[in-house]
Amino acid sequence: MSAAEGPSYWLGNQTLKVAAALFALNRKRLCDRLRNNRDVPKGSFVVLQGGEETNRYCTDTGTLFRQESFFHWTFGVTEPGCYGAIEVDTGKSILFVLKLPESYAVWMGKIHQPEHYKKKYAVDDVRYTTDIAVVLSAKTPSLLLTLRGVNTDSGSVCKEASFEGISQFTVNNALLHPEIVECRVFKTDMELEVLRYTNRVSSEAHKEVMKAARVGMKEYELESVFLHYCYARGGMRHTSYTCICGSGDNSSILHYGHAGAPNDKTLVDGDMCLFDMGGEYYCYSSDITCSFPANGKFNPNQKAIYEAVLKSSRAVMNAVKPGVAWPDMHRLADRVHLEELTEIGILKGNVDDMIKAHMGAVFMPHGLGHFLGIDVHDVGGYPEGVDRIDLPGLKSLRTARTLQERMVLTIEPGIYFIDHILDQALANPAQSCYINNEALQRFRGFGGVRIEDDIAVTANGMELLTCVPRTVEEIEAFMADSDGKGKSLSKVVLSQQL
Ligand code: GLY
Ligand code: MN
Ligand code: MN
Repeated sequence: MSAAEGPSYWLGNQTLKVAAALFALNRKRLCDRLRNNRDVPKGSFVVLQGGEETNRYCTDTGTLFRQESFFHWTFGVTEPGCYGAIEVDTGKSILFVLKLPESYAVWMGKIHQPEHYKKKYAVDDVRYTTDIAVVLSAKTPSLLLTLRGVNTDSGSVCKEASFEGISQFTVNNALLHPEIVECRVFKTDMELEVLRYTNRVSSEAHKEVMKAARVGMKEYELESVFLHYCYARGGMRHTSYTCICGSGDNSSILHYGHAGAPNDKTLVDGDMCLFDMGGEYYCYSSDITCSFPANGKFNPNQKAIYEAVLKSSRAVMNAVKPGVAWPDMHRLADRVHLEELTEIGILKGNVDDMIKAHMGAVFMPHGLGHFLGIDVHDVGGYPEGVDRIDLPGLKSLRTARTLQERMVLTIEPGIYFIDHILDQALANPAQSCYINNEALQRFRGFGGVRIEDDIAVTANGMELLTCVPRTVEEIEAFMADSDGKGKSLSKVVLSQQL
Protein backbone atom coordinates (compact mmCIF):
# COMPACT_ATOMS: atom_id res chain seq x y z
CA MET A 1 0.00 0.00 0.00
CA SER A 2 1.46 3.38 -0.95
CA ALA A 3 1.49 6.32 1.46
CA ALA A 4 -1.21 8.01 -0.65
CA GLU A 5 -3.58 5.03 -0.30
CA GLY A 6 -3.03 4.37 3.40
CA PRO A 7 -4.65 6.11 6.37
CA SER A 8 -3.97 9.78 6.87
CA TYR A 9 -4.69 12.75 9.08
CA TRP A 10 -6.87 15.27 7.28
CA LEU A 11 -9.19 18.08 8.40
CA GLY A 12 -10.96 18.41 5.07
CA ASN A 13 -11.30 21.45 2.82
CA GLN A 14 -7.89 22.66 1.70
CA THR A 15 -5.97 21.29 4.67
CA LEU A 16 -3.06 18.94 4.15
CA LYS A 17 -3.40 15.16 4.17
CA VAL A 18 -0.58 13.68 6.20
CA ALA A 19 -0.10 9.97 5.66
CA ALA A 20 0.36 7.66 8.65
CA ALA A 21 3.28 6.35 6.58
CA LEU A 22 5.22 9.45 7.74
CA PHE A 23 5.38 7.93 11.23
CA ALA A 24 6.05 4.38 9.99
CA LEU A 25 9.12 5.77 8.26
CA ASN A 26 10.18 7.61 11.42
CA ARG A 27 9.92 4.34 13.38
CA LYS A 28 11.92 2.53 10.73
CA ARG A 29 14.66 5.17 10.79
CA LEU A 30 14.81 4.95 14.57
CA CYS A 31 15.09 1.15 14.54
CA ASP A 32 17.79 1.29 11.85
CA ARG A 33 19.83 3.62 14.05
CA LEU A 34 19.29 1.55 17.17
CA ARG A 35 20.33 -1.67 15.41
CA ASN A 36 23.59 0.09 14.51
CA ASN A 37 24.21 0.95 18.13
CA ARG A 38 26.35 -1.82 19.60
CA ASP A 39 25.05 -1.10 23.12
CA VAL A 40 21.51 -2.04 22.06
CA PRO A 41 21.14 -5.84 22.39
CA LYS A 42 18.96 -8.04 20.18
CA GLY A 43 15.46 -8.35 21.59
CA SER A 44 15.22 -4.69 22.68
CA PHE A 45 11.95 -2.77 22.67
CA VAL A 46 11.47 1.00 22.59
CA VAL A 47 8.76 2.08 25.03
CA LEU A 48 7.37 5.61 24.89
CA GLN A 49 4.67 7.24 26.95
CA GLY A 50 2.41 9.76 25.24
CA GLY A 51 1.12 13.00 26.72
CA GLU A 52 -1.60 13.07 29.33
CA GLU A 53 -4.74 15.17 29.52
CA THR A 54 -4.62 17.93 32.13
CA ASN A 55 -7.13 20.23 33.81
CA ARG A 56 -6.87 23.84 34.87
CA TYR A 57 -5.33 23.71 38.34
CA CYS A 58 -7.74 21.94 40.73
CA THR A 59 -10.81 22.32 38.50
CA ASP A 60 -12.52 19.89 36.14
CA THR A 61 -12.00 22.26 33.19
CA GLY A 62 -9.91 20.46 30.61
CA THR A 63 -7.10 22.15 28.70
CA LEU A 64 -6.82 21.47 24.98
CA PHE A 65 -4.58 18.45 24.56
CA ARG A 66 -1.48 18.57 22.37
CA GLN A 67 0.54 15.39 21.97
CA GLU A 68 4.02 15.08 23.49
CA SER A 69 6.53 15.74 20.71
CA PHE A 70 8.62 12.54 20.76
CA PHE A 71 5.45 10.45 20.88
CA HIS A 72 3.97 12.41 18.03
CA TRP A 73 7.12 11.97 15.92
CA THR A 74 6.95 8.21 16.48
CA PHE A 75 3.23 7.44 16.26
CA GLY A 76 1.27 10.52 15.08
CA VAL A 77 -1.42 9.72 17.64
CA THR A 78 -3.73 12.58 18.61
CA GLU A 79 -5.34 10.96 21.70
CA PRO A 80 -3.96 11.46 25.23
CA GLY A 81 -3.00 8.71 27.66
CA CYS A 82 -1.35 6.30 25.20
CA TYR A 83 1.88 4.30 25.22
CA GLY A 84 3.74 2.86 22.28
CA ALA A 85 6.26 0.05 21.90
CA ILE A 86 8.50 -0.91 18.96
CA GLU A 87 10.43 -4.13 18.59
CA VAL A 88 13.82 -2.89 17.42
CA ASP A 89 14.77 -6.08 15.52
CA THR A 90 11.62 -6.19 13.38
CA GLY A 91 10.26 -2.63 13.58
CA LYS A 92 6.86 -4.01 14.62
CA SER A 93 4.80 -1.49 16.59
CA ILE A 94 2.23 -1.84 19.36
CA LEU A 95 0.04 1.08 20.37
CA PHE A 96 -1.51 0.99 23.83
CA VAL A 97 -4.72 3.00 24.20
CA LEU A 98 -6.86 3.84 27.20
CA LYS A 99 -9.69 1.47 28.06
CA LEU A 100 -12.37 4.12 28.38
CA PRO A 101 -15.18 4.04 30.96
CA GLU A 102 -18.79 3.74 29.77
CA SER A 103 -19.44 7.35 30.82
CA TYR A 104 -17.08 8.37 28.01
CA ALA A 105 -19.79 7.38 25.54
CA VAL A 106 -22.15 9.89 27.18
CA TRP A 107 -19.82 12.85 27.60
CA MET A 108 -17.09 12.44 25.01
CA GLY A 109 -18.46 10.29 22.20
CA LYS A 110 -18.12 6.84 20.74
CA ILE A 111 -15.79 4.38 22.41
CA HIS A 112 -13.69 2.81 19.69
CA GLN A 113 -12.33 -0.70 19.72
CA PRO A 114 -8.58 -1.35 19.32
CA GLU A 115 -9.16 -2.33 15.68
CA HIS A 116 -10.23 1.27 14.97
CA TYR A 117 -6.87 2.63 16.17
CA LYS A 118 -4.95 -0.06 14.32
CA LYS A 119 -6.46 1.15 11.06
CA LYS A 120 -6.29 4.84 11.96
CA TYR A 121 -2.58 4.80 12.81
CA ALA A 122 -1.38 1.86 10.67
CA VAL A 123 0.41 0.18 13.58
CA ASP A 124 0.91 -3.58 13.82
CA ASP A 125 -1.10 -4.12 16.97
CA VAL A 126 -3.26 -2.15 19.41
CA ARG A 127 -3.79 -3.16 23.05
CA TYR A 128 -5.03 -1.48 26.21
CA THR A 129 -2.64 0.44 28.48
CA THR A 130 -3.80 -1.68 31.41
CA ASP A 131 -2.19 -4.71 29.70
CA ILE A 132 1.24 -3.27 28.87
CA ALA A 133 3.22 -5.37 31.32
CA VAL A 134 1.46 -8.59 30.28
CA VAL A 135 1.75 -7.88 26.54
CA LEU A 136 5.43 -6.93 26.75
CA SER A 137 6.46 -9.78 29.04
CA ALA A 138 4.94 -12.25 26.55
CA LYS A 139 7.50 -10.93 24.05
CA THR A 140 10.38 -11.64 26.49
CA PRO A 141 12.29 -8.47 25.67
CA SER A 142 15.99 -8.39 26.58
CA LEU A 143 15.80 -4.65 27.30
CA LEU A 144 13.23 -1.86 27.37
CA LEU A 145 14.58 1.42 25.99
CA THR A 146 12.82 4.33 27.68
CA LEU A 147 13.33 8.01 26.97
CA ARG A 148 15.18 10.23 29.38
CA GLY A 149 17.28 13.23 28.40
CA VAL A 150 17.62 16.98 28.74
CA ASN A 151 16.03 19.44 26.35
CA THR A 152 18.95 21.75 25.61
CA ASP A 153 16.70 24.80 25.20
CA SER A 154 14.60 24.51 28.35
CA GLY A 155 16.94 22.47 30.54
CA SER A 156 13.94 20.26 31.38
CA VAL A 157 14.14 16.48 31.38
CA CYS A 158 11.60 14.61 29.26
CA LYS A 159 9.15 12.30 31.02
CA GLU A 160 10.30 8.72 30.94
CA ALA A 161 7.74 5.96 30.30
CA SER A 162 6.52 4.34 33.47
CA PHE A 163 3.76 1.79 34.02
CA GLU A 164 2.67 -0.70 36.62
CA GLY A 165 4.87 -3.79 36.37
CA ILE A 166 7.83 -2.09 34.65
CA SER A 167 10.11 -3.22 37.51
CA GLN A 168 10.00 -6.80 36.17
CA PHE A 169 11.91 -5.69 33.03
CA THR A 170 15.50 -4.65 32.43
CA VAL A 171 15.29 -0.98 31.49
CA ASN A 172 17.82 1.42 29.96
CA ASN A 173 16.80 5.08 29.92
CA ALA A 174 19.98 6.58 28.41
CA LEU A 175 20.47 4.93 25.01
CA LEU A 176 17.28 6.04 23.27
CA HIS A 177 17.36 9.82 23.75
CA PRO A 178 20.42 10.75 21.65
CA GLU A 179 19.32 8.38 18.86
CA ILE A 180 15.73 9.60 18.54
CA VAL A 181 16.84 13.23 18.89
CA GLU A 182 19.29 12.74 16.02
CA CYS A 183 16.54 11.22 13.89
CA ARG A 184 14.33 14.25 14.56
CA VAL A 185 17.03 16.66 13.38
CA PHE A 186 16.86 15.33 9.80
CA LYS A 187 13.50 15.76 8.15
CA THR A 188 12.13 13.21 5.69
CA ASP A 189 10.42 14.24 2.45
CA MET A 190 7.03 13.66 4.08
CA GLU A 191 7.96 15.86 7.05
CA LEU A 192 9.27 18.58 4.73
CA GLU A 193 5.92 18.52 2.97
CA VAL A 194 4.15 19.25 6.27
CA LEU A 195 6.59 22.05 7.11
CA ARG A 196 6.03 23.57 3.67
CA TYR A 197 2.32 23.54 4.47
CA THR A 198 2.67 25.13 7.93
CA ASN A 199 4.81 27.80 6.33
CA ARG A 200 2.42 28.39 3.45
CA VAL A 201 -0.59 28.84 5.69
CA SER A 202 1.29 30.94 8.25
CA SER A 203 2.77 33.11 5.49
CA GLU A 204 -0.71 33.78 4.12
CA ALA A 205 -1.94 34.54 7.64
CA HIS A 206 0.89 37.07 8.11
CA LYS A 207 -0.14 38.70 4.83
CA GLU A 208 -3.70 38.98 6.15
CA VAL A 209 -2.35 40.74 9.21
CA MET A 210 -0.32 43.18 7.11
CA LYS A 211 -3.36 43.95 5.01
CA ALA A 212 -5.59 44.46 8.03
CA ALA A 213 -3.12 46.58 10.03
CA ARG A 214 -4.31 50.12 10.73
CA VAL A 215 -3.17 52.85 13.10
CA GLY A 216 -5.63 52.82 16.02
CA MET A 217 -6.02 49.04 16.15
CA LYS A 218 -4.96 46.97 19.13
CA GLU A 219 -2.07 44.57 18.68
CA TYR A 220 -4.35 41.73 19.78
CA GLU A 221 -6.85 42.49 17.02
CA LEU A 222 -4.11 41.64 14.54
CA GLU A 223 -3.13 38.58 16.54
CA SER A 224 -6.72 37.42 16.17
CA VAL A 225 -6.58 37.93 12.39
CA PHE A 226 -3.60 35.57 12.29
CA LEU A 227 -5.21 32.98 14.55
CA HIS A 228 -8.46 33.07 12.62
CA TYR A 229 -6.82 32.57 9.27
CA CYS A 230 -4.60 29.73 10.48
CA TYR A 231 -7.52 27.86 12.00
CA ALA A 232 -10.25 28.64 9.46
CA ARG A 233 -8.13 28.09 6.38
CA GLY A 234 -5.37 25.83 7.61
CA GLY A 235 -7.01 23.68 10.27
CA MET A 236 -4.43 24.90 12.76
CA ARG A 237 -5.98 24.74 16.17
CA HIS A 238 -2.68 25.44 17.88
CA THR A 239 0.08 27.92 17.31
CA SER A 240 3.69 26.86 17.71
CA TYR A 241 4.24 29.46 20.48
CA THR A 242 2.52 32.47 22.03
CA CYS A 243 2.04 35.18 19.40
CA ILE A 244 4.46 38.11 19.71
CA CYS A 245 2.71 41.21 18.35
CA GLY A 246 4.83 44.18 19.33
CA SER A 247 4.32 47.72 18.06
CA GLY A 248 6.45 50.78 18.79
CA ASP A 249 8.87 50.17 21.63
CA ASN A 250 7.25 46.77 22.28
CA SER A 251 8.88 45.52 19.09
CA SER A 252 12.20 45.45 20.96
CA ILE A 253 10.83 43.10 23.65
CA LEU A 254 12.04 39.76 22.37
CA HIS A 255 9.28 37.61 23.86
CA TYR A 256 6.51 40.21 24.17
CA GLY A 257 2.91 38.95 24.13
CA HIS A 258 3.02 36.88 27.33
CA ALA A 259 0.26 37.11 29.95
CA GLY A 260 1.92 40.08 31.63
CA ALA A 261 2.16 42.03 28.35
CA PRO A 262 -0.69 40.55 26.29
CA ASN A 263 -0.38 42.36 22.93
CA ASP A 264 -2.68 45.12 24.22
CA LYS A 265 -1.07 48.34 23.00
CA THR A 266 -2.78 50.50 20.38
CA LEU A 267 -0.87 50.94 17.10
CA VAL A 268 0.25 54.56 16.77
CA ASP A 269 1.21 56.45 13.60
CA GLY A 270 4.97 56.07 13.17
CA ASP A 271 5.16 52.74 15.03
CA MET A 272 7.24 49.85 13.73
CA CYS A 273 5.42 46.54 14.13
CA LEU A 274 7.22 43.25 14.78
CA PHE A 275 4.84 40.30 14.54
CA ASP A 276 6.32 36.89 15.28
CA MET A 277 3.66 34.19 14.85
CA GLY A 278 3.57 30.62 13.60
CA GLY A 279 0.72 28.18 13.07
CA GLU A 280 1.04 24.51 13.98
CA TYR A 281 -0.57 21.68 11.99
CA TYR A 282 -0.66 18.13 13.32
CA CYS A 283 2.09 19.18 15.75
CA TYR A 284 4.42 20.50 13.04
CA SER A 285 5.57 24.10 13.57
CA SER A 286 6.30 27.27 11.73
CA ASP A 287 8.03 30.36 13.08
CA ILE A 288 7.79 33.55 11.03
CA THR A 289 8.41 37.20 11.86
CA CYS A 290 7.25 40.10 9.72
CA SER A 291 8.33 43.65 10.57
CA PHE A 292 6.46 46.53 8.96
CA PRO A 293 5.37 50.09 9.69
CA ALA A 294 1.92 50.42 11.28
CA ASN A 295 0.91 53.08 8.73
CA GLY A 296 2.18 51.10 5.73
CA LYS A 297 4.99 53.51 4.83
CA PHE A 298 8.56 53.23 6.15
CA ASN A 299 10.06 56.48 7.48
CA PRO A 300 13.80 56.99 6.75
CA ASN A 301 14.95 55.54 10.10
CA GLN A 302 12.68 52.49 9.73
CA LYS A 303 13.83 51.94 6.17
CA ALA A 304 17.49 52.12 7.16
CA ILE A 305 17.18 49.61 10.01
CA TYR A 306 14.87 47.30 8.07
CA GLU A 307 17.19 47.19 5.08
CA ALA A 308 20.18 46.50 7.32
CA VAL A 309 18.41 43.44 8.73
CA LEU A 310 17.23 42.32 5.30
CA LYS A 311 20.80 42.56 4.06
CA SER A 312 22.05 40.25 6.82
CA SER A 313 19.16 37.83 6.27
CA ARG A 314 19.95 37.58 2.58
CA ALA A 315 23.71 37.32 3.19
CA VAL A 316 23.07 34.34 5.45
CA MET A 317 20.68 32.74 2.96
CA ASN A 318 23.30 33.06 0.23
CA ALA A 319 25.91 31.39 2.42
CA VAL A 320 23.84 28.53 3.87
CA LYS A 321 24.72 25.07 2.59
CA PRO A 322 25.92 21.75 4.00
CA GLY A 323 29.28 22.07 5.75
CA VAL A 324 28.71 25.61 7.00
CA ALA A 325 29.04 26.12 10.77
CA TRP A 326 25.90 27.80 12.16
CA PRO A 327 27.87 30.08 14.55
CA ASP A 328 29.66 31.45 11.47
CA MET A 329 26.26 32.45 10.08
CA HIS A 330 25.52 34.28 13.32
CA ARG A 331 28.89 36.06 13.03
CA LEU A 332 28.11 36.96 9.41
CA ALA A 333 24.78 38.53 10.40
CA ASP A 334 26.51 40.49 13.20
CA ARG A 335 29.13 41.78 10.76
CA VAL A 336 26.52 42.99 8.26
CA HIS A 337 24.58 44.70 11.07
CA LEU A 338 27.68 46.49 12.35
CA GLU A 339 28.67 47.62 8.85
CA GLU A 340 25.17 48.92 8.20
CA LEU A 341 24.86 50.63 11.60
CA THR A 342 28.17 52.37 10.84
CA GLU A 343 26.80 53.44 7.46
CA ILE A 344 23.67 54.80 9.19
CA GLY A 345 25.91 56.71 11.63
CA ILE A 346 24.89 55.00 14.88
CA LEU A 347 28.31 53.34 15.13
CA LYS A 348 31.78 54.64 14.32
CA GLY A 349 35.15 52.97 13.96
CA ASN A 350 36.56 49.72 12.65
CA VAL A 351 34.06 46.87 12.31
CA ASP A 352 36.67 44.18 13.10
CA ASP A 353 37.41 45.94 16.38
CA MET A 354 33.68 46.24 17.11
CA ILE A 355 33.33 42.49 16.62
CA LYS A 356 36.12 41.87 19.13
CA ALA A 357 34.23 44.12 21.57
CA HIS A 358 31.04 42.03 21.02
CA MET A 359 29.08 44.98 19.64
CA GLY A 360 26.92 42.60 17.57
CA ALA A 361 25.15 41.36 20.70
CA VAL A 362 24.29 44.94 21.73
CA PHE A 363 21.88 45.08 18.80
CA MET A 364 21.07 41.35 18.36
CA PRO A 365 21.18 39.71 21.80
CA HIS A 366 19.50 36.50 20.62
CA GLY A 367 20.80 33.71 18.40
CA LEU A 368 20.49 33.88 14.60
CA GLY A 369 18.13 30.91 14.44
CA HIS A 370 17.29 27.42 15.58
CA PHE A 371 16.08 24.03 14.44
CA LEU A 372 12.38 23.82 13.64
CA GLY A 373 10.18 20.73 13.48
CA ILE A 374 7.62 19.29 15.84
CA ASP A 375 8.85 21.80 18.39
CA VAL A 376 9.41 25.38 17.39
CA HIS A 377 12.79 25.21 19.10
CA ASP A 378 13.37 21.71 17.86
CA VAL A 379 15.62 19.20 19.58
CA GLY A 380 19.18 18.26 18.69
CA GLY A 381 20.97 21.60 18.89
CA TYR A 382 23.69 20.40 21.22
CA PRO A 383 24.45 16.67 20.90
CA GLU A 384 27.44 15.30 22.78
CA GLY A 385 30.58 16.90 21.39
CA VAL A 386 28.95 20.19 20.37
CA ASP A 387 29.40 22.89 23.01
CA ARG A 388 27.74 26.22 23.57
CA ILE A 389 30.03 29.14 22.76
CA ASP A 390 30.23 31.24 25.91
CA LEU A 391 30.28 34.68 24.29
CA PRO A 392 27.65 37.45 24.11
CA GLY A 393 25.05 36.68 21.44
CA LEU A 394 26.62 33.38 20.41
CA LYS A 395 25.77 31.84 23.77
CA SER A 396 22.07 32.30 22.94
CA LEU A 397 22.34 30.11 19.83
CA ARG A 398 20.10 27.07 20.19
CA THR A 399 22.54 25.12 18.05
CA ALA A 400 26.24 25.46 17.25
CA ARG A 401 26.21 22.60 14.74
CA THR A 402 27.53 22.37 11.21
CA LEU A 403 24.69 22.37 8.70
CA GLN A 404 23.67 19.21 6.89
CA GLU A 405 21.07 18.43 4.26
CA ARG A 406 17.51 18.00 5.65
CA MET A 407 18.07 20.19 8.67
CA VAL A 408 15.27 22.76 8.99
CA LEU A 409 16.09 26.06 10.68
CA THR A 410 14.92 29.60 11.16
CA ILE A 411 17.00 32.49 9.92
CA GLU A 412 15.96 35.39 12.11
CA PRO A 413 18.39 38.28 12.32
CA GLY A 414 17.22 41.40 14.12
CA ILE A 415 18.34 44.83 15.22
CA TYR A 416 16.75 46.14 18.42
CA PHE A 417 17.14 49.29 20.44
CA ILE A 418 16.80 47.94 23.97
CA ASP A 419 17.40 50.68 26.55
CA HIS A 420 18.80 48.29 29.15
CA ILE A 421 21.47 46.95 26.78
CA LEU A 422 22.25 50.35 25.24
CA ASP A 423 22.76 51.90 28.69
CA GLN A 424 25.10 49.07 29.66
CA ALA A 425 27.10 49.52 26.43
CA LEU A 426 27.33 53.29 26.95
CA ALA A 427 28.61 52.69 30.47
CA ASN A 428 31.29 50.33 29.18
CA PRO A 429 34.26 52.23 27.68
CA ALA A 430 35.23 49.18 25.59
CA GLN A 431 31.90 49.51 23.77
CA SER A 432 30.84 53.15 24.13
CA CYS A 433 33.82 54.24 22.02
CA TYR A 434 32.05 52.80 18.97
CA ILE A 435 28.69 54.49 19.64
CA ASN A 436 27.67 57.83 18.24
CA ASN A 437 25.32 58.68 21.07
CA GLU A 438 23.77 61.66 19.34
CA ALA A 439 22.67 59.51 16.40
CA LEU A 440 21.61 56.71 18.75
CA GLN A 441 19.25 59.09 20.59
CA ARG A 442 17.12 59.27 17.45
CA PHE A 443 16.49 55.52 17.74
CA ARG A 444 15.58 55.38 21.43
CA GLY A 445 12.00 54.09 21.51
CA PHE A 446 12.24 52.88 17.90
CA GLY A 447 11.70 49.27 19.00
CA GLY A 448 13.23 46.69 16.72
CA VAL A 449 13.16 44.84 13.44
CA ARG A 450 13.36 41.07 13.05
CA ILE A 451 13.03 39.22 9.76
CA GLU A 452 12.41 35.53 10.40
CA ASP A 453 12.14 32.90 7.69
CA ASP A 454 12.11 29.11 7.84
CA ILE A 455 14.47 27.18 5.57
CA ALA A 456 15.45 23.61 4.76
CA VAL A 457 19.09 22.86 4.02
CA THR A 458 19.42 21.17 0.60
CA ALA A 459 22.36 19.41 -1.08
CA ASN A 460 23.69 22.67 -2.56
CA GLY A 461 22.12 25.42 -0.50
CA MET A 462 18.70 25.93 0.99
CA GLU A 463 15.00 25.97 0.24
CA LEU A 464 13.05 28.97 1.51
CA LEU A 465 9.79 27.75 3.05
CA THR A 466 8.38 31.13 4.06
CA CYS A 467 6.74 33.36 1.45
CA VAL A 468 5.79 36.89 2.55
CA PRO A 469 6.55 40.38 1.19
CA ARG A 470 10.10 41.13 2.31
CA THR A 471 11.65 44.17 0.65
CA VAL A 472 10.60 47.69 1.69
CA GLU A 473 9.03 48.16 -1.75
CA GLU A 474 7.15 44.84 -1.59
CA ILE A 475 5.79 45.61 1.88
CA GLU A 476 4.72 49.15 1.04
CA ALA A 477 3.07 48.04 -2.21
CA PHE A 478 1.36 45.12 -0.48
CA MET A 479 0.01 47.23 2.38
CA ALA A 480 -1.07 50.05 0.06
CA ASP A 481 -2.85 47.53 -2.13
CA SER A 482 -4.74 45.98 0.75
CA ASP A 483 -7.90 48.01 -0.01
CA GLY A 484 -9.08 46.82 3.36
CA LYS A 485 -9.97 50.33 4.49
CA GLY A 486 -13.64 50.44 5.36
CA LYS A 487 -14.05 46.68 5.02
CA SER A 488 -14.97 44.64 8.02
CA LEU A 489 -12.14 42.46 9.23
CA SER A 490 -14.03 39.24 8.60
CA LYS A 491 -14.51 40.22 4.96
CA VAL A 492 -10.84 41.05 4.62
CA VAL A 493 -9.92 37.67 6.04
CA LEU A 494 -12.51 35.48 4.44
CA SER A 495 -12.16 36.93 0.95
CA GLN A 496 -8.73 35.34 0.75
CA GLN A 497 -8.35 31.79 -0.44
CA LEU A 498 -5.28 29.72 0.23
N1 GLY B 1 9.16 32.80 18.20
C1 GLY B 1 10.27 32.42 18.96
C2 GLY B 1 11.50 32.44 18.15
O1 GLY B 1 11.56 33.14 17.18
O2 GLY B 1 12.41 31.71 18.40
MN1 MN C 1 9.85 33.57 15.95
MN1 MN D 1 12.47 31.55 15.93
